[in-house]
Amino acid sequence: MTHVQLSSLDVSTSLRSIAEQFDFVGEVLDVQRYGSGNVNDTFLVTLASDPREKAILQKVNQQVFRHPELIILNMRAFMEHIGTTNGRCADTQGRRWETPDIISTKAGADYWRDPEGGFWRMTTFVKDAQTYDTIRDQRHAGEIGYALGRFHSLISDLPVESLYDTLEGFHITPRYLAHYDVVVANGYHKSSPDIEYGRDFVAQRRAWASVLEDAVRRGELMLRPIHGDPKVNNILIDDVTGQAVSVIDLDTVKPGLVHYDIGDCLRSCCNPLGEETEAFDAVRFETDLCQAILEGYLTEARHFMTGKDYDYIYDAVRLIAFELGLRFFTDYLEGNVYFRTKDAEHNLRRALVQFRLTESIEAQAAAIRAIVAAQRIS
Ligand SMILES: Nc1ncnc2c1ncn2[C@@H]1O[C@H](COP(=O)(O)OP(=O)(O)O)[C@@H](O)[C@H]1O
Ligand SMILES: [Mg+2]
Repeated sequence: MTHVQLSSLDVSTSLRSIAEQFDFVGEVLDVQRYGSGNVNDTFLVTLASDPREKAILQKVNQQVFRHPELIILNMRAFMEHIGTTNGRCADTQGRRWETPDIISTKAGADYWRDPEGGFWRMTTFVKDAQTYDTIRDQRHAGEIGYALGRFHSLISDLPVESLYDTLEGFHITPRYLAHYDVVVANGYHKSSPDIEYGRDFVAQRRAWASVLEDAVRRGELMLRPIHGDPKVNNILIDDVTGQAVSVIDLDTVKPGLVHYDIGDCLRSCCNPLGEETEAFDAVRFETDLCQAILEGYLTEARHFMTGKDYDYIYDAVRLIAFELGLRFFTDYLEGNVYFRTKDAEHNLRRALVQFRLTESIEAQAAAIRAIVAAQRIS
């Protein structure tokens, strides 16, 4: 079979004809690849009549999302609910806040399937704002926290039954541990001091790994709608004011614990060296950033947080770092079947980063608990 290279003209013509399936008034001037997301294919669509009028066109990654129509139904449920709650935030006066809307197809559907089965959707564009790949400073951290708090607050009373669970088992650490046990029991053909360190690391924490799920079982924590991927590059920051204006990337909205989101946000944002560093000994959880994020978060989230919710914040941060390390470590032992890797040791290096981060979180347990305690009473 020969692979025919499409000319850039053909590609732009077909992207334009895909964009024109949607009910986006006027003729399409241009469709360009956009942003630095690494799951879906994202394009910026510009209108001929007014180049300031834009929309976001995305081809959903169906390797990751096996039932893309369910994520669209979740987006709809989310948006209809937001329409009724947007006005009740703590400081709506003067503060810009936008939720991208679904743009339907001309046939009235919320998505379009191309002849090869590709799944396309369009949303409104949030103007004059950008996402960043890393935290720039304390203020940016506060805005990330604020945005997550506002997002949770807006959907805290959306019944979880109205959302499909599109990623079953996501952040249920005991399930990842059970998978790890199967992989280890099946045997793996590697040995090194780093593997020994990883095995000991997991063994020492396994009894505690069900801490959040146990709390759910005891009725101390309850399921609420969550974002599922509250990273710094999913929060749009206004170009002029520097304030957060939108939380995007709603593909992973599902029922869960707000602790999963808080833990994941803190885990990713408070590790300035990032997930891919090889300077393992320098990996550190930055409590100053943690404080800024939690302070911003609680500006909006305070009204729905219970006493028990606060009690488990420290465990959540520690657990989500541990869990990601466990997932990388398992994938390494299994032969790199899940995460995309650059080389055979990549997942081991990623696991070591998360395990070091977990150790840094543990070493600063008292400081993190003190930050939560101070926020709780303020
Ligand atoms: N509605 C929007 N308005 C403005 N920019 C957007 C919008 N949606 C996505 N983007 C930009 O496109 C990037 C990728 O989109 P995202 O939905 O996060 O895809 P992925 O799932 O691949 O991360 C974002 O980081 C952001 O920069
Ligand atoms: Mg994204």
